[in-house]
Amino acid sequence: QWIYLNGQYVTKENAKISVYDHGFLYGDGIFEGIRIYSGNIFKLKEHLNRLYDSAKSIMLQIPLSLEQMQEALVETVRRNGLRDGYIRLVVSRGPGNLGLDPLRCPEAFVIIIVEELSIYPEEAYENGLVSVSVSQRRNVPDALNPKIKSLNYLNNVLVKIQANNAGVGEAIMLNSQGYVAEGSSDNIFIVKNGVVYTPPCYVGALEGITRGAIMELCGKLGLPLKEEPFTLHDVYVADEAFFTGTAAEVIAVREVDGRTIGSGKAGPITTRLLQEFRQIVT
Ligand code: PDD
Repeated sequence: QWIYLNGQYVTKENAKISVYDHGFLYGDGIFEGIRIYSGNIFKLKEHLNRLYDSAKSIMLQIPLSLEQMQEALVETVRRNGLRDGYIRLVVSRGPGNLGLDPLRCPEAFVIIIVEELSIYPEEAYENGLVSVSVSQRRNVPDALNPKIKSLNYLNNVLVKIQANNAGVGEAIMLNSQGYVAEGSSDNIFIVKNGVVYTPPCYVGALEGITRGAIMELCGKLGLPLKEEPFTLHDVYVADEAFFTGTAAEVIAVREVDGRTIGSGKAGPITTRLLQEFRQIVT
């Protein structure tokens, strides 16, 4: 396995960063998770745009141009010889001193890791996941803007811990007003009376690339789609619910906080969207 470490290709054992890196010390950095399907990097442009937007927002100068970054990604995938897998692209503020001042970090640090991936068993895509809502709240734009895919994932990690404690694969996070925001690392959708709903990003959700692909698919398939805030009550009484994410793809939710969602397995619209999604990516 070859890892891109700031311009060099090194083995996993040799892929090391400085203890002074502000990505490590302060979570000062950004990242992307990207899929490779049949040798193609899925939605590469969209991921790169989001990365460079995140960088601009936090005043992080990425040492590579977008074209150079694209080349580095393609080359890392090529060197690893993987036809299907997952890419983790990280840009940290880079090594500095112990103070948090980014001015003390002369150059950002770029890491590209390519790996095989399987998160949920195929059975879960048919039967759906059990999920719970958690007490952790999603930050809304008055704190760190959720559109920035930053290395500050402690909030999401705390959600994952609550999911683990409840013995479920993914949990549902609300914002401070009680609207449903997203999962620990997935966007959320519900279906009611044939209409597909997803929270607008201002509620407190990452502008997910998979979310975007599903919204586009809804348009193509003629499925009515509404981007509007909803509550846990709406999730409980939905006909269908599902999460979307680069790693998870489109995964049905069969139960939330002990309430069975719809039929208690992946519903027809979720199943159709997953099938169509898999058609696009392969
Ligand atoms: N997840 N929300 C959060 C908080 C996320 O971290 C992610 C990405 C998503 C889904 O976004 P996208 O469809 O662009 O992946 C939503 C990890 C990194 C992943 O699935 O790879």
